[in-house]
Amino acid sequence: MQKVILLAIAAFLNAADLSQVIESPDATAILKKDALSAPKVAMMIEGCISNEPAVIARGKYLFHNLNGKDAKDPAPEGLVKILPDGKEKQYGNCVACHNIEGAKGYGNIGPDLSNYKSIFMDSGVRKSDFVYQKIADPRVDNPKTHMTINLTNGLFSEREVCDLTSYIVSKK
Ligand code: HEC
Repeated sequence: MQKVILLAIAAFLNAADLSQVIESPDATAILKKDALSAPKVAMMIEGCISNEPAVIARGKYLFHNLNGKDAKDPAPEGLVKILPDGKEKQYGNCVACHNIEGAKGYGNIGPDLSNYKSIFMDSGVRKSDFVYQKIADPRVDNPKTHMTINLTNGLFSEREVCDLTSYIVSKK
């Protein structure tokens, strides 16, 4: 009797088409979805660099904070802590790798950006569009960069990259 049941189960398993219930994810599609898109050359929009206090305040806020939940001060005009879809806004957390005026607990993976205006801008060593491209997609300048990508992957808008650039090149 036992043998008959076992045979019946074996016959059922053989006959059943299990392809519908067994998940077989397409690994190539998943890898492609997660992969970074190609490095992209970015162009500054008109009026990108500005000395307006509201612009500098946004750039500073994006530079020094990680996300809406952890940011202590109220968000400056033009920035929010929580997005309309209820998710918290992600900021740049640039201080994780860069020192700059007023940075607290900064990391040193990236170069010190203190006195950027006098050292790099006024001397003519750097131009705003270099800084803009670096923030938008640093891979264009350095394919092996360890810096985060901010515009190509849609983390920031063009305006936000302009805000960050304006802040870095401004006199502080
Ligand atoms: C994970 C570390 C890391 C983070 C986070 C990071 N950077 Fe960088 N950054 C670097 C490194 C490393 C370099 C050196 C050059 C390179 O690899 O591209 C660099 C270079 C730069 C430069 C070029 C300086 C110069 O004149 O050569 C600028 C400007 C800059 N980063 C701005 C930012 C801003 C703004 C943010 C936040 C949105 C940021 N970085 C976040 C690591 C980082």
